[in-house]
Amino acid sequence: MRASDCPDEIRQILLTQEEIHERIAELSRDIERDYEGRLPLLVGVLKGAVMVVSDLARELRIDVEMDWMAVSSYGSGTESSGVVRIMKDLDTDLSGRDVLIVEDIIDSGLTLTWLAQNLASRGAASIEICTLLRKPSRLKTDLAVKYIGFDVPNEFVVGYGLDYDERFRNLRDVVVLKPEVFGATAADVSDVIEPARKVFKPGLPQAGFSAG
Ligand code: PRP
Repeated sequence: MRASDCPDEIRQILLTQEEIHERIAELSRDIERDYEGRLPLLVGVLKGAVMVVSDLARELRIDVEMDWMAVSSYGSGTESSGVVRIMKDLDTDLSGRDVLIVEDIIDSGLTLTWLAQNLASRGAASIEICTLLRKPSRLKTDLAVKYIGFDVPNEFVVGYGLDYDERFRNLRDVVVLKPEVFGATAADVSDVIEPARKVFKPGLPQAGFSAG
């Protein structure tokens, strides 16, 4: 689905599909270089990460394996709590594996902090994180993320895997919805939407976990 298919519900396009694919290509070059001679396991976190994993895996010019997890974070409404339940676990034994967790968005960072620790306890050789989007104003942890596509403002963003009530996951672009679509009013949202910004150097410390 394209933004032009639901113009009445979209307030602003934050990232076009072209911008997303260009950034995924840039991240892929970094990942290829870092994992040269190794066989990373991409772990996609359902459901939102499906599009990112799919495009990232096809863009990468090295062999990768893919596996999937579904987790549910206990919390109120859209706020995650950091208390996570595994709804679908990996099929893959992580012993000695180089794991790259792939996410669509990091909001509070609590889900990934828990997940990185959980996967680290399974004997992986290394664990790193790749996310297309991050909301820096919402972060509640100092989780180290090696590959980040864009920082985005604290708006209700959907598309490219991200949903509102399961809708808009199949939208090609990342967009900000009109407030009335998600039950808010104009007074509840900011007047001006800040642009998304590429994150070229996520900053130290690196890696959620690294063995050896
Ligand atoms: C989103 C996203 C992350 C999590 C991030 O998933 O895909 O998994 O929230 O939130 P956090 O940084 O505050 O922990 P969601 O729970 O919306 O599930 P979905 O991917 O199935 O839409």
